[in-house]
Amino acid sequence: MKVFFPKSIFKHDLRVCGRGWLNAASLALAAAGLSGSALAQDAPQPSALVRQAAVGIAAELGKACPLAPAGDIAAYTACRQALFGPSTLRSHLPKFLLWGRQSKAPNATIRQTNLTQFAPDVWTSMYAPLFMFNGKHSIEWVADEKMFLVRLEAAFRNRLPAGQFPYPFWHDEAKWAMYENANALMLWVNPETALIRVAQFTDQAPTPSLQQVVAVKQEKYKGPWLWTDEQGKTQPAVTLFDGVYRADNPHMATMDKRYRDLAVQLRESQCVNCHVPNNPDKMSRLVLLSTPAHAAGEVDRLIKAVREDSMPMDEFRLSYALSPENKKWLLESAQAFKDTVTAARQWEQQAQAATAQGSTTAGMTLQGARASLTR
Ligand code: HEC
Repeated sequence: MKVFFPKSIFKHDLRVCGRGWLNAASLALAAAGLSGSALAQDAPQPSALVRQAAVGIAAELGKACPLAPAGDIAAYTACRQALFGPSTLRSHLPKFLLWGRQSKAPNATIRQTNLTQFAPDVWTSMYAPLFMFNGKHSIEWVADEKMFLVRLEAAFRNRLPAGQFPYPFWHDEAKWAMYENANALMLWVNPETALIRVAQFTDQAPTPSLQQVVAVKQEKYKGPWLWTDEQGKTQPAVTLFDGVYRADNPHMATMDKRYRDLAVQLRESQCVNCHVPNNPDKMSRLVLLSTPAHAAGEVDRLIKAVREDSMPMDEFRLSYALSPENKKWLLESAQAFKDTVTAARQWEQQAQAATAQGSTTAGMTLQGARASLTR
């Protein structure tokens, strides 16, 4: 038998207060003269695949990213390295993940919620690790989304230096407040594939905060999204893979430079009117190109979109072709940037393989790789 709930009751309570919804649901059931078992029969149970994914991810996060002081950079970096590497979390990500705050609107569906698109490299190295976990999770079926919601108890590292965030989240006070007070990460899981389609964070989970939050009062930030600090270092450092790539990766300086060349072209071609964190175009599925790591995650789609004249768009969201000159320069700088991104990744893989082997031959491979660079 199908039990029908008014959407507002069901949705709101199921999402926002996992404990309260049972009461509301039993009330609604009582009102409809039905027993609780009708509901239980209708809700699909998570398959072994979904359960394994949830248990595996929760255990991994609890182990690799345990509770620590909210400004502990070493704990954060260890968590970044674990999730960026061949992690269980990463193995459940799609090509592009949707990420963002839970909507404040009580009945908002995912479709109605503004989110940002991220390649796995970007999300696992700069977003997911900003949270700490106790390993506890719950799984619920959300009928309206036709997905399982895996809720992981979590706390946010709000006391890191600015260069450890992918960009200053405090450009938007409400966003920063929800990040600071987050008490859960929500993973929306496809019932068949157990892949995560959407991830959100919330400060409204029914479980209590994992540790006391000492708020950081930040001045409202208006950009720039990439800057140079007093030591002459590009910031946010995490957007140049600082901490997840080895400090001696010889491609980092070039990547920085090539990104800056690309950024000039992105500006020239109006891309930065829309693809920046403050989302001036109010895109519902924001794409960020404002730092090296963000652009690295998008570079293939960027090249394709420009080549096919589907980007840029005008203020009415109609695509138009760039002038042949601008198109050429943009594509050239994007390709040059992509080449360094690839080289950096390959070097890293070789370096890892060498460490894994731990032999002198591996050391020679590494030296060979370095030597071939300087040739
Ligand atoms: C007027 C705003 C606007 C401008 C200017 C703009 N874009 Fe976009 N861009 C969008 C919107 C809207 C989307 C669609 C997002 C979505 O999936 O909902 C998009 C999507 C993209 C994507 C994702 C790719 C995909 O295939 O879906 C890339 C990459 C991109 N834009 C690159 C660029 C580049 C490069 C420029 C400059 C040449 C540019 N955009 C200029 C609004 C803009």
